[in-house]
This record gives sequence, C-alpha cells and structure tokens, in this order.
Amino acid sequence: MGQCPNCKEWNTIIEEKFDKKQKKQTQNSNWGDESKNSKNQRISEIQAVHYSRISSKDPEFDRVLGGGIVPGAVILIGGNPGIGKSTLLLQVAMNMDQKILYVSGEESAHQIRLRADRIEGTNDNTFVLNETNTISILNNAKKIEADVLVIDSIQTLMLPGMESAPGSVSQVRESTSELQKYAKQTGTPVIIIGHINKEGSIAGPKILEHIVDTVLQFEGDNKYQYRILRSLKNRFGSTDELGIYEMQATGLKVVENPSTILLNQQYSDLSGTAIASSIEGARPMMVETQALVSEAVYGNPQRSATGFDLRRMSMLLAVLEKRCGVRFGQQDVFLNIAGGIKISDPSIDLAICASLVSSLQDIVIPTKTCFAGEVGLTGEVRAVSRIEQRIQESERLGFEEIYISYAHHKIAAKYSGIQIHPIKILPELLEGLFG
Ligand code: TYD
Ligand code: MG
Repeated sequence: MGQCPNCKEWNTIIEEKFDKKQKKQTQNSNWGDESKNSKNQRISEIQAVHYSRISSKDPEFDRVLGGGIVPGAVILIGGNPGIGKSTLLLQVAMNMDQKILYVSGEESAHQIRLRADRIEGTNDNTFVLNETNTISILNNAKKIEADVLVIDSIQTLMLPGMESAPGSVSQVRESTSELQKYAKQTGTPVIIIGHINKEGSIAGPKILEHIVDTVLQFEGDNKYQYRILRSLKNRFGSTDELGIYEMQATGLKVVENPSTILLNQQYSDLSGTAIASSIEGARPMMVETQALVSEAVYGNPQRSATGFDLRRMSMLLAVLEKRCGVRFGQQDVFLNIAGGIKISDPSIDLAICASLVSSLQDIVIPTKTCFAGEVGLTGEVRAVSRIEQRIQESERLGFEEIYISYAHHKIAAKYSGIQIHPIKILPELLEGLFG
C-alpha cells in the first residue's frame, strides 16, 4: 500500500513479517491473583544507586555521554555513511583500559586491522569479531567477559529463527532488545552503530530510539574535516553537550578550542559575510554566515541554503522585504554556513539578515563586528540565551562591536572592551550597519 489509510502520508508503510510458527502469547488477565507480587515502593524507600561511570579516555565522547559510560547502558550512535562512526568507536575501543569486543558485520577483520594501524591506539585489549548472528555475538561477549561491547552495525545483525532479512524492521528491533537484555543482565555497556536513512533519521523502527538509553548523532559534511557528536536523548545526562572532532589522516582528533574553527578569516573583508556569536551545546562558537545575492537571469529566482533551514531563510527574506523594504524578489539567493556544520541556534538570524543585505547592496560589514539575536515575524529582534557568555567570547576573540536584542540592553554597561548595540527591530540593524 502506498498511502497510509490512517494518516494519509505516502510511503510510510513498512512490511513486517511474523513467524507463523510462533505461538500466540496467552494473555493472563486474572489481575486479582496476589501471588505475583510486584511491590509498590515509596520513592524515598528506593535505594539510590550511584553508578561509577567508565571513562572512554576521549574527553569529548565522555562529555556528550554526561561524564562517561554508565554500566549496562545501551548507546545508539547514528550518522551518514562515511562520516566516521566506525573510526570513532574503534578509536575509543583502542584507547580504553577495559576489555572491548568490537563486532563488525560490515568489514572484515583485515580491514579493521588496516584502520587500527592508522589510529594511534594505546591499548591491546580490543578484540574483533566478524559475526552477524546476535546470539553467537552475545555468547562470545560472555566467553571473553568483555567489559564493553561495540556493534557495527545494528542493520547487519540477525536473530536465528526469524525469517526476515537483516536490516528489516523486525530483525533490528528484536536484535536490539536482545542486546538490551544482555546489557541490563550483565551490566555491560553496549554501543550500537545505526545507519541513517534518506530522511536523516536512524533506519529501523522508531522504537529503537525508545529501547536504548542514549541516542547520539555524528554529523558534519564529508567534504570538510569537522565532525560534531550530539546527544539527542540521554537517560544519564543532559542533551546540551556536544563533542567536536577533526578528521585527520590518523583518525579523529579532539578540537580543544572550537570557538574559531568556523571562521574563514581569509575572505572576511568581502561583502556578504557576517559573523554570529552562537552557542552550540554549551560552548560558544563564532559562526561565519555567507550570502550571495545576485540578479536572477534564468526566470525563476533560485533559493538555496547549506547548513541552515531553507524555510527559515525564506522567512527572513520575507521579513526583510516587508519590514525593511529591501527587495529580494528578482534575486537569486544562496546562503552558506562556513565549515559544513549545521547550526540550530536561532541566534544566528541577525547575522544572516546582515549578510543577505550586505551582499545585495555590496557593502562590506566591518570584520570586527558580530551579531547575536533571533528575528521574529514582525521584524523584532528577540533575546537569546546566555547572552553574557556570547559577549564575553566575542570580546575575548577581539571583536569590537556586537549587535544584540534590546531586551539585554541593561547589561551593555558592564562591558567596556566591546561596543554593544542593543536593537529593537531589524530596520535599526540596517541603519546601524549600512546607514
Ligand atoms: P568510517 O569510520 O568508515 O565511517 P562510517 O563508519 O561512519 O561509515 O570513516 C570513513 C572515512 O573516514 C573514510 O572516508 C576515510 C576517513 N578516515 C580518515 O580520514 N582518517 C582516518 O584515520 C580514518 C580511519 C578514516
Ligand atoms: Mg562504518
């Protein structure tokens, strides 16, 4: 069936095969039976368990997990092909002190050895297993008493006795719940790699994300060397933190001071670039936005955005037209966030508006000026989180001016090293910048 009769969405129905031989579970509905006693407990009566987390020896990986790996946790890590998931986990495995079993259903042991040679690992306690049968993987893990189990990838696993192909919804789900049972019973953390489908979510049933304790996403652009590890769900920590890596010839290297990696200093004195003082995770990061606005020569004007939501860009263009009288109607508009990293912080709106108008009017924005503000539909400039942290970082990096929302105007007096322009509405930004 192409269309779901319920929600009317197209191509959302997935085939799931059931084993006919499997007996239907008899449902026990005599709830009056008190012999099966599960106990009601007061929250205060429950013993608090403090897990001692295991350090992965990778400060960024530990940070994203909320301070290390929790015993018995099931961690799912997703990302586009070739982004470096296998590299990251092999690297983590080879640097930990514990005994690690790295199971690969995708690459031969030989290939893994080649990759291991590129990465400088320090620990000779990593074991490799080429296997796709979930049960024999778990038997092997038990046999060598692995402290951590890594599965590369969940889509290659299969449970014996199930008819459907590896990677199908039921195989993925059943194998994951088998891994989860193992993790909870033995206290062994299990780290699972999951592929991403066309739409960008982790392939397989959505319930996969519900079964596991932590969902991480490894992202970045293959053409650039920077990678970001984000936490989308974490039962043992906050989802605010992120890890930043650089892919080099010898594996992934931690980026210690990420605030300037996205600046493209060489060309910043050209029109169409503006710098946003953004916060990714809990860390400030200066982000360079680049716009190219030029007369459309082939009929319909083109609109394209890389690293930024295209619909949000259209919204900002509409606000600029309506509230500031700047005309983009017959212009091609291209927008790019330098460095190939996707930015989700709404505070970069102001920088984007500045770069769009700068390109349209071909007026350069002074290199030592930066922006931090969200733009609303009426053209109002909204307050953003952690404004003081943003201002401090901009000042530290030598910026001389920053445009922020008027909502923060009271704190402006605190800073003497950087000139602060609090603005209420977008036209004030254009006036300040372009006169
Ligand atoms: P990989 O870990 O295989 O990606 P995934 O498991 O997410 O599909 O990473 C593949 C890319 O990383 C590959 O194109 C080569 C690159 N790479 C390096 O640049 N340096 C290295 O040291 C390694 C091991 C890989
Ligand atoms: Mg891989």
